[in-house]
Amino acid sequence: MSKPVIVCVDDEIAVLDSLRRELSEAFEDNCEIETAMGGKDAIALVHDLVEEQCDLSVIIADYLMPDIKGDAVLQQVHQLSPQTLTIMLTGQANIDGISNAINTAQLYHYIAKPWQPEDLQLTVREALNSYQQEQKIIEYQHTLERKVQERTQELTQTLNTLKTTQSELIQAEKMAALGQLVAGVAHEINTPVGNALLAASVLNNETKSLTQAFEQGALKRSNLVSYLQTAQDSSDLILQNLKGAAELIQNFKQVAVDQTSHEQREFQIIPYIESVLTNLEPKLKQTRHTVTVSGNASLKTTSYPGALSQIVTNFVMNSLLHAYKPGEAGHLRFYVTQQQNQIVLEYADDGCGMPTEHQSKIFEPFFTTGRDRGGSGLGLHIVHNLVTQTLKGTVSCQSEVAVGTRFILKLPLTLANGGAYVRG
Ligand SMILES: Nc1ncnc2c1ncn2[C@@H]1O[C@H](COP(=O)(O)OP(=O)(O)OP(=O)(O)O)[C@@H](O)[C@H]1O
Ligand SMILES: [Mg+2]
Repeated sequence: MSKPVIVCVDDEIAVLDSLRRELSEAFEDNCEIETAMGGKDAIALVHDLVEEQCDLSVIIADYLMPDIKGDAVLQQVHQLSPQTLTIMLTGQANIDGISNAINTAQLYHYIAKPWQPEDLQLTVREALNSYQQEQKIIEYQHTLERKVQERTQELTQTLNTLKTTQSELIQAEKMAALGQLVAGVAHEINTPVGNALLAASVLNNETKSLTQAFEQGALKRSNLVSYLQTAQDSSDLILQNLKGAAELIQNFKQVAVDQTSHEQREFQIIPYIESVLTNLEPKLKQTRHTVTVSGNASLKTTSYPGALSQIVTNFVMNSLLHAYKPGEAGHLRFYVTQQQNQIVLEYADDGCGMPTEHQSKIFEPFFTTGRDRGGSGLGLHIVHNLVTQTLKGTVSCQSEVAVGTRFILKLPLTLANGGAYVRG
């Protein structure tokens, strides 16, 4: 780094010489000393120094000069290089000049002529120290600003990555929910199909025996009567079980398609909730809970059934996971009504409820009390997004420890034209 520069300004060569000599004595090793004959010369010199980015630390100017007065010179220098410390030499007590320089050039000091070399050196030394301190502070500020900028940039990047990860996780959670649904339904269909298979194979065996007896001419009336009974029973069983399986598949197809297709259509709310619950039957059957759906059964809406299906699934799964102890028999209730042009959907369980401090957090992503049981804390966040963004409604929660939890959804009866499915 270049040495700091001290500029001396006077219109008398003798004064300039003695300034240079006395300052060189004290500061020659650490500073450059420049001189200017008069005000104009000084301003031109400062211009050059500023342009060359020199470290112009101190300027000492005489007050009484024929071209420009010292206070006016210092004022201009202060504008060109605000960090430079200004000192004025005054031959006579000129209070006006000093106060003007204090106001317009932030005069650092003034020295009365004639001066003692020690006084001059002391004043300039203090000025240099103070200038250097100031420079350090400025440099420190710059470093701090740069660091803050760098950190802000890093944090913005991290935030963006987090946002992307969050939406990927939400998407993954939805797919996982669909996967669970598929596994549950596959399991559920297994039973009726197995029963039908068993009945079909009994019928098949009996038919073979009957055919054999007929071909051998050994068919008795009693054989035929018994066969007809078996055939009737088996076909009844086959029909009943296959009907059950077909219903399950139909339900599943609708819900799964709704969950993935994101299409608007008209549907009746209560029957739709019931069909979603049928899909959850495999889970519900493992518990002693009862589920009821009541209210205005004919209420229809034109909206996104897929979103509703995800909401219902999340509510029920949460009650199963969080509200009851194993083996407890709870009551889960859906209640649907119309209030003016709104659908009010209430869901309540009579489980353990939540402490107040949890209630304000449940819609936040990743808030869960069930991490050890595989909870990710995204379920109710997705519900919140689906209700507010996709269905353009509101959701609130009331809960009391040991009494239960209630969610209240208020949804527009019909989504305004142009409503769009927003990924939870
Ligand atoms: N019916 C309820 N009864 C008691 N607590 C509940 C109920 N529903 C939600 N909670 C509380 O709210 C928290 C957040 O629920 P959320 O569905 O967002 O996450 P999760 O069920 O823990 O995990 P995930 O749904 O992602 O698998 C739960 O961890 C639980 O503490
Ligand atoms: Mg959940």
